[in-house]
Formats: sequence, C-alpha cells, structure tokens
Amino acid sequence: MKFFIDTANLAQIKEANELGILDGVTTNPSLMAKEGIKGIDAVMQHYKTICEMVDGDISAEVISTDFDGIIEEGKKLVAIHRNIVVKVPMIKDGIKAIKWFTQNGIRTNCTLVFSAGQAILAAKAGASYVSPFIGRIDDSGWDGMELIHQLRQIFTIQGYKTEILAASIRNPNHIIKCAEAGADVCTCPLDSILGLLKHPLTDIGLAKFLEDAKKTA
Ligand code: G3P
Repeated sequence: MKFFIDTANLAQIKEANELGILDGVTTNPSLMAKEGIKGIDAVMQHYKTICEMVDGDISAEVISTDFDGIIEEGKKLVAIHRNIVVKVPMIKDGIKAIKWFTQNGIRTNCTLVFSAGQAILAAKAGASYVSPFIGRIDDSGWDGMELIHQLRQIFTIQGYKTEILAASIRNPNHIIKCAEAGADVCTCPLDSILGLLKHPLTDIGLAKFLEDAKKTA
C-alpha cells in the first residue's frame, strides 16, 4: 500500500517525506485555504513547491464544475509538473472530464466518492485513482471500511486498473484497516502516520535496554 500525505502544509509534507515512506501528496481546496494560500498564482506556486519537495503523485483539485471549465483547469494544473494528478469531483461533468483526460493521457483522481456505484463510474471513465472518503462515511453513521472492502472485491473481479485511494483518514487504525482491506493507497494526515510508530511496550522496552546498556558501558 502506498502512503500519501493529505495536507497542503509544507512543514508536515517535509516531515513525512523525511521518514522515507512517502509516495505522494493529496490536497483539496479546504486544505489549501487552511494554509492561507490565496489567489490562483499562489495556488499554482504552492503545487509547484510541493512537486519539487516530493517525488511522487501530487493530486491538485479543480474547482470548476462544468466540463469545459474542468478541462481548462486540468490542462493548467498538469502543465505545472509531470507528477500532477488532476483531482476531479464525482459529478456528471466530472466523469465526462475524467474520460477526456484519460483519452488525452492525463491522470486523474476522482474525489468525493461515497458509494460503490460512484467508484465503478470513475473506474469505467479511466480514473487513475478513486478516492472513497472513509472518515466522512463513519461520521454519517455508516462503515467507511466496508466500502474499501467492497471496492477491492469489485475492482479485482472486474480487473479495473484504477487504484483505490482511501481518503478522509482520521486515525492510525484506519490506515491498518485499509492495508488489511487491500487499498492501493492511503492518504493520511501526518498525525495518523506518526501514530503508527507508537506502542507503550516499545517505550518501556527501549527505556529498559538503555538502562541496561549503562551496565555494559
Ligand atoms: O482530501 C480529501 C479527504 O482526505 C478529506 O478528509 O478529514 O476532510 O474528511 P476529511
């Protein structure tokens, strides 16, 4: 399973990248706004900076909701860097645009996916990635992980090449469960990635080893 970081925060991207386990970055308009990025030039420059920091796929989201607007924006985004993947919302014109991008050799990430039906449409249109939002499904009283299991089964049976990119990750256990369910990618906040490091027995064991090491010094 590939690890992406789900943020537009450069310090967090740097920290995750320095761990040596980072395969890419996903962003969205909310994450860009959180970092105070304002204006199209600043947004484009921010994507460029992220691409120069991380050697992996970088999802950059369009904000148009009509076919022509999505295509125009997507073309500008992919011109920034070869690693840009155009993130397109799961709407009718989004599916049409994903098909167009696929036919024109441009990679896409279909976002805001909450059902197997939506994911099937994205895969049929040729999306490189499909992003089910598991945390938000959990928030609404359903089981986000069930969708990952269902998509793994469908995509394997049907031989879809689209990668299942589990998004809206809220904790380390989500990451473990995604790996277990066969997600191709998990895009995570830095805290959830770092949470994987932690176990109290590791801390206790290390303290004891270091204490005993003094006896051998
Ligand atoms: O990038 C899309 C997704 O990961 C958003 O997560 O936490 O806002 O539901 P969240």
